[in-house]
Amino acid sequence: MTTIASWRDLLHTDAYLDGSWRATTERFAVDDPATGETVAEVARCGATETGAAIAAAEQAQPAWAAMLARERGAVLRRWAALLNEHAAPLAELLCRENGKPLAEGLGEVAYAAGFLDWFGEQARRVDGSVIPTFAADKRVVALRQPVGVAAAITPWNFPAAMLTRKIGPALAVGCTLVAKPAEQTPLTALALAALGERAGVPLGVFNVVTGAGGDAPVIGEAITASPVVRKLSFTGSTEVGKLLAARCAATVKRVSLELGGNAPFLVFDDADLDAAVAGTLVAKFRNSGQTCVAANRILVQRSVHDAYLERLQAAISALAVGRFDEPGVAVGPLIDDAGLAKVRRLVDDARAGGAAVLLGGEQLDRPGRFFAPTLLRDVDPAMSLSCEEAFGPVAAVGVFDTEEEAILRANDTRAGLAAYCYTRDVGRVWRVGEALEYGMVGINTGFISSPEVPFGGVKESGLGREGSQYGIEDWTEVKYLAIGL
Ligand code: SIN
Repeated sequence: MTTIASWRDLLHTDAYLDGSWRATTERFAVDDPATGETVAEVARCGATETGAAIAAAEQAQPAWAAMLARERGAVLRRWAALLNEHAAPLAELLCRENGKPLAEGLGEVAYAAGFLDWFGEQARRVDGSVIPTFAADKRVVALRQPVGVAAAITPWNFPAAMLTRKIGPALAVGCTLVAKPAEQTPLTALALAALGERAGVPLGVFNVVTGAGGDAPVIGEAITASPVVRKLSFTGSTEVGKLLAARCAATVKRVSLELGGNAPFLVFDDADLDAAVAGTLVAKFRNSGQTCVAANRILVQRSVHDAYLERLQAAISALAVGRFDEPGVAVGPLIDDAGLAKVRRLVDDARAGGAAVLLGGEQLDRPGRFFAPTLLRDVDPAMSLSCEEAFGPVAAVGVFDTEEEAILRANDTRAGLAAYCYTRDVGRVWRVGEALEYGMVGINTGFISSPEVPFGGVKESGLGREGSQYGIEDWTEVKYLAIGL
């Protein structure tokens, strides 16, 4: 096996089907969002390659499921160890296609390895139950079995972690997987496949189909229409999630969806303001604001509003913007022109509606898709910035007077992924924590992500949970046996 010394040693550009690299004549360019330069040309797959991936996964699934749980777990844990061992080149590859600062790229690789490791351990704990019988001459048990062949469609904002969050539980319970990574960041998924092969993942257990533009609906259709694929796990936009869920209905597939958010970030008058500002930086500027759990509406109680804003302004002014490998960089570029255009539109709309721009507000005058870290005050609930996910480095601050008003405004959205609240009042911690209509609430913290926790949303932010023991259940079917004596 070749030594992995640089990100180039992890660079694969063909689809990964049944344990082999499959070239296609049509290719698409993956670019570096910090420069616009092409990093690699990747295979465009369609219905044929997706069909081959599904067939490979179907062929491999019975033997994979028949392996002892501890053996499947050991493969996953070896895979995790390889991610950690090659963290530097893998993070560099990831940053080249995604743009995030290297420190965040390294953090993401550790996060991604964590899912493989955690679910690798958990594989041996997926058990059923013996149920007290309903008849003296019968015994009743419930088994947990893998759903079978599954598919994962994953986003560009965490190209490694959003994929291993699905690979971990799927492979732990005995499912096999067909993955379709985002067109902006297929290289990380292909590198993960190469490391999986080294870890001993058998042929056909994990497959990657790549594509761009018009390929996505074709690949999506091949997955959703297939009766062989029994589950689809999707992380991405609410719009696409709804479409995929509707398509999956035709074959009554299981669907897990982690969709868009519109996170409120509440700062009460009893909060530790320095901690609240530190938490805002994490919840808002991680991955340049391109996370589904990003603080989208920062709402501050009137009596502490100005003091908080002053400290936040100082903290944002200190954030260095640049390419992933520039020293001290904290904020990278936006992923593509569409992302940039959206951020510009939301900021312009807020400005026109009366919000004041205290910092930034413009694209930076340098190559690449950089938007200046931005701070706006007087953002009101009617502005599009309060209604749509910005997915950019834009801190939008508004004001509230009472706890009741804060809760009402926080819940006034069709999204329900993550929310945040800063307060030192223990009663308020419980009242607000329970009243927020969200799947996840960070209280006195701006960081809530980890393999051990149930990650997911309510309302239009999704279905199901990923990570934790709750996240494993969605990849299994409960089968009941009634045994006559
Ligand atoms: C996301 O943005 O979809 C996931 C973020 C995370 O896992 O922290």
